[in-house]
This record gives sequence, C-alpha cells and structure tokens, in this order.
Amino acid sequence: MAELVPGEQIDKQSPIPMYYQIMELLRRKIRDGEFAVGAALPPERELAEIFRVSRMTVRQAITALANEGVLIRRQGVGTFVAPPKIEQVLSKLTSFTEDMQQRGLHPSAKLLHFEHRAAEEKQAALLGVPEGEPLLVIERLRLADDLPMAIERTHLLVRLFPHLHREEVEHDSLYALLEKRYAIRIDRATESLEATVADAAEAALLEIDAGNPVLRRTRVTYDERQQPFELATSVYRADRYKFVIELSRR
Ligand code: GLP
Repeated sequence: MAELVPGEQIDKQSPIPMYYQIMELLRRKIRDGEFAVGAALPPERELAEIFRVSRMTVRQAITALANEGVLIRRQGVGTFVAPPKIEQVLSKLTSFTEDMQQRGLHPSAKLLHFEHRAAEEKQAALLGVPEGEPLLVIERLRLADDLPMAIERTHLLVRLFPHLHREEVEHDSLYALLEKRYAIRIDRATESLEATVADAAEAALLEIDAGNPVLRRTRVTYDERQQPFELATSVYRADRYKFVIELSRR
C-alpha cells in the first residue's frame, strides 16, 4: 500500500463532497501506479482515521469506485484494486476467443447447457425462420485467465449445423469451429446493448452480487449469403467491460 498521510488529503472547507475527494485521490493513486492492481486497500476504519472522516464517508467513496469497477470488494476478505476494464471497440465482428487473445488473456468456457429447442416467435423472427424451427441452444460461462467474464447463450439453426457435439463447443472457439467444419463465412452482425442488473443465478456464475450491474448484448450474426445463423444473448460483467463505439459525422 502506498503512503497515505493522515489528515492532509481532504479539504473539508471545499464545496466538493468529501467522499468525492477521497474517490479522486484513490483514483489518482491507482492511475499513477502507486496502488498496484490486486493491492489491498486498508480497512474502512483505518481509512476513516487517515482521512479524518466518518466510516460512512469512506464507505460511500469505496462503493462508488467498486460500482465503477475500479475496486473489487471480496466478501469477508477486503477491497482490492481491480485490473483495468477490457475495452472493446464495437465496430469489428470478433469472437470471445479472439477478443481475449488480442489482449493476451487466456480464454476458456464452461458448458452450462447444450440442447435442442423449438424457436419461439421472437427468436424465429430475428433468425428469419418459421416459429418452431429447431434450434441448438448452447449456454457457456466465458472466462479470461480463469475469471468469469460473461454468460453467453447462443442459438444456432440446427439445419445449418446438424452434427455439432457438446465436447467441441466446450473446448473450442465456436466461430472457429463453424468456419472450419461447416465452411461458413461469417460476414456481419447487428448487436444491441443494454444495461441491466444480474439476477441471482447470473450473479452466482459471474461471481458478483445479485443486483450488480451487467451489460446485456444481443447479436444476430449473418453469413455471406446474408442468412442469419446465430442469435446470441450475452451477459457481461459491467465492472470488467467497457464498450467503445466509434461515431463519425462525415
Ligand atoms: C462473441 C459473441 C457471440 C459468439 C461468440 C463466439 O462473444 N457475443 O455471439 O457466439 O463470441 O465466441 P467463440 O468463438 O470464442 O466461441
């Protein structure tokens, strides 16, 4: 832990709220590398003494930084400096495996479900098939360096990929598999992104608290014939991800 000198960092006369000043100070020390990724913060009680403020003020600052993903709270263990968020530019059509490998992280998956189901009305409409069309539903927990990042539920048209095995999708990149084995040319996708909160089941898998923010992405992916072949809904940890969207006014 870098040096925090009692009393001197907070300006109690300032109109800037004290919790906010503490947030900014901690944020700066993290940015400057004084607090390394993974370093533990002193307990709330100690921070309150250092800043000469109430524990509630300290808690407010820590909660705000944890919500932003700058700090990670581990129940009963303490508060730690989080690794920087994964920044993903939303203009390239990439797979989870490619996204993680580009960042030097090791991607993996845990297969949660692998089953056939009939397409519901909305799914059928998005995939451009009749209601009741057989779909293969693959649900996987996606990890980077063994840390849970996202839950992905992918719906594929069974008639396009009739012989996919559960073992293959557990260990391999789905996109690489579809390209290699089915010679599909992945062309483009439309995606929507919304902020929601994790329910109890999602929270347990993602190792966050129920009610924590998550980002839900829905992707419809098309092959070169402009046939949609995938409908994927993914739930990403909001504290680990930042999506960057490029805008142009040409
Ligand atoms: C992304 C997309 C999913 C897609 C997945 C494939 O995360 N949101 O729609 O199914 O990548 O990833 P992989 O090839 O690593 O299995």
